[in-house]
Amino acid sequence: MANHLPTETVSIALAERSYDILIGCGLLDLPSALSCGSASAEALIVTNTTVAPLYAERLQRVLALHHTRVRTIALPDGEVYKDWATLNLIFDELLREAFDRKTVLYALGGGVIGDMTGFAAACYMRGVSYVQVPTTLLAQVDSSVGGKTAINHPAGKNMIGAFYQPLRVIADLDTLDTLPDREISAGLAEVIKYGPIADDAFLGWIEQHIDALRARDKTALACAVRRSCEIKAWVVGQDERESGLRAILNFGHTFGHAIEAGLGYGEWLHGEAVGCGMVMAADLSVRLGLIDAAYAERLTTLIERAGLPTRGPRLGAARYLELMRVDKKSESGQIRFVLIDAPGRASLHRADDALVAEAIEAHCV
Ligand code: NAD
Ligand code: GLY
Repeated sequence: MANHLPTETVSIALAERSYDILIGCGLLDLPSALSCGSASAEALIVTNTTVAPLYAERLQRVLALHHTRVRTIALPDGEVYKDWATLNLIFDELLREAFDRKTVLYALGGGVIGDMTGFAAACYMRGVSYVQVPTTLLAQVDSSVGGKTAINHPAGKNMIGAFYQPLRVIADLDTLDTLPDREISAGLAEVIKYGPIADDAFLGWIEQHIDALRARDKTALACAVRRSCEIKAWVVGQDERESGLRAILNFGHTFGHAIEAGLGYGEWLHGEAVGCGMVMAADLSVRLGLIDAAYAERLTTLIERAGLPTRGPRLGAARYLELMRVDKKSESGQIRFVLIDAPGRASLHRADDALVAEAIEAHCV
């Protein structure tokens, strides 16, 4: 039965910055799952106006057992609010309420809340602790893990931020019950990503379980979250600050970020843009002779079965290229793409603009 699933732990090994990811059901009500800060520390739950009415009170109740004071701030909801002005609301609350440097921030929500809260924690008083409590599938399999924190800039996605690891990640699978179907599909894009870059057998498993995952079968979800976190832990443990290997986690993201920025943040969900971006990146891998067309087709079919768009908006190849040059992986204005070298293996590549344009045009509406 769903709520009898055992809690599983995946560890991120980063010396003194190591931490655990707890994955299970009912964790929001479990005091032991949530006790990881100093007992005297105060706590601020950072959430948004959608998630607060669903889960903030429960979290606040359990945190009150561990902290001397617990407050909640609910930010406006949406990727469009992942910006300076909204980040400042967190600092305003912390300063107005005189939170000290032992304060622990709790990021309760999806990737937007997680990224902003982590960045606020990295900056407030030059750094306070934070805990990730991801409530979207995307956040549970990817964004809450690994310490990338950021806000967007109108010129580019996640351009202002810091590497800053949380104290713990608490992925309560029960919170996924209230997630809209579209958000489940968006999260599945980041799950699928791990197959072509690191584990071809996992890709096969996802193909077999895609319908169960979309139907929110808890056993299937637990397995997908655990394996995704294991792969992410393996990558981040070797390359915390993305000097090399970690870039593979950005498979599909270079094209995807161009879609998000080009349409205006929030028009397409991040996971939708990544799904379509993976189709374009797989096509570019084929055009460069790295993989055969059948593997790209296989990936495209799975992305479609996950309920994700596989054709991008017609922004024009020149506009895609312009937007992609702002990518953090670019060097001296040259775009570098994460491409598939072989099933389950990926690395960074350069490609001629003309070839990239062909890959884009082949997959636009
Ligand atoms: P999101 O944070 O916008 O959440 C999606 C929507 O679901 C929001 O409307 C949110 O309020 C709502 N929601 C959250 N939990 C809910 C629940 N349990 N029930 C009902 N509604 C719920 O989007 P996301 O897909 O979680 O995250 C996308 C963000 O993550 C992007 O900004 C992306 O850049 C970032 N990201 C960061 C990393 C990283 O390594 N830091 C990795 C991948 C993505
Ligand atoms: N989601 C990309 C990374 O964490 O590196």
